[in-house]
Amino acid sequence: MEILRAAVLHTPRNPFLEDNALECYVDGALAVESGVIAAAGDFAGIRARYPEWPVRDRRGSVLLPGLVDTHVHFPQTRIIGGLGLSLLDWLNQHALPEEAFFAEANYARIVAHHFVQELVRHGTTTALVFGAHFPAAMDALFETAALAGLRIVSGLVVSDRLLPDALLQSPEKAYAANKSLIARWHGTSGMRYAVTPRFALSCSEGMLEMCGALLAEHPDVLFQTHINENRQELAGVRSAFPWAADYLAVYDRFQLTGSRSVFAHNVHASQEELHRLSAAGATVAHCPSSNAALGSGIFPMARHLAANVRFALGTDVGAGTGFGMLKEALQCYLLQRVAPEPLVLSPAQLLYLATRAGAEALGLAGEAGDFTPGKSADYIVRKAPLGESPEKMLGALITSGDAPAIEEVWARGRKVFG
Ligand code: GUN
Ligand code: ZN
Repeated sequence: MEILRAAVLHTPRNPFLEDNALECYVDGALAVESGVIAAAGDFAGIRARYPEWPVRDRRGSVLLPGLVDTHVHFPQTRIIGGLGLSLLDWLNQHALPEEAFFAEANYARIVAHHFVQELVRHGTTTALVFGAHFPAAMDALFETAALAGLRIVSGLVVSDRLLPDALLQSPEKAYAANKSLIARWHGTSGMRYAVTPRFALSCSEGMLEMCGALLAEHPDVLFQTHINENRQELAGVRSAFPWAADYLAVYDRFQLTGSRSVFAHNVHASQEELHRLSAAGATVAHCPSSNAALGSGIFPMARHLAANVRFALGTDVGAGTGFGMLKEALQCYLLQRVAPEPLVLSPAQLLYLATRAGAEALGLAGEAGDFTPGKSADYIVRKAPLGESPEKMLGALITSGDAPAIEEVWARGRKVFG
């Protein structure tokens, strides 16, 4: 047990619904016992409550809850930065060739280490991870993440059409592979499982039906996929599933839309789809940097809010531009500021979207996402930019993003930094 003394910032309530959802203690502290938060508040009060506990003094820094990334592709760790293409070309030229390498378990293991390092280096302690198409690569991911102590929800990506042959498998094989991965990993050392069809376009009706069967058999397993990302993709889905009134109807038909479902993107959603997502209690993973990089469009956040659809932030690495969830929050702010229906998001709303909203989406609100007593002690310690109010401090912190990677700077032949 210990008391950690620093400024404390978190959003234990939803700042889209309540004023004063941002809690801040300038001379604050977290009391932590056996990896669990015992209390968060002013240092003086916490000191008085636990007078015997040792104090780790980190004044000058700020504590934020561990960040929650609701959409990140493990096998795309090495291909960040493939700019200049739209979704389907980017998949064919960048993502899918790289993902085929994950048939090789050793390669998967090396990238799994890199992936986990990148998550933790950027302050992400919980993530819903889009996995690989190969079971051995999933073992590598789960093993590495469990060893690192992260909280990961992930699953084998399944597809049986459209993609290169190496990435396809039959619904029968996919079912068996899912069953054995669920038995091996779901509920063990911070790991949970998510049924993961790549997107409707790369799945037959038989494959989606198999996904529905897995969800019915495992009521606490999650579901993740992509939806309404790109107009060409939408046209493809319309012709592959002519009976479906819209994109979501394909997932609805196989009972894949529910409160444990997370749909990435949803840039081109109809009003009808928003109403159904809201009624189902499903969550959208909003990935602003990816939506911009692939030219997919600007997320209609105002319409999601009006329709009461839950959403949280995701980096969507590797179409997204990096692992930093604070950077993603800044991109979210910038893009909504200039969206056709513009929003001016507050620092509290951005922090919420990068932490608690994600924990809620993954059914982990009792464990992670803020510093409520009883939750897991997941936190980031960061140099605090000065600010005269909590909102200003948080705004500066989100805007300044991650530490710059420049190691040395030389001017006129002399080292001036590093
Ligand atoms: N849709 C299907 N696969 C993918 C992917 O890997 N990335 C993105 N952004 N969209 C997808
Ligand atoms: Zn994605």
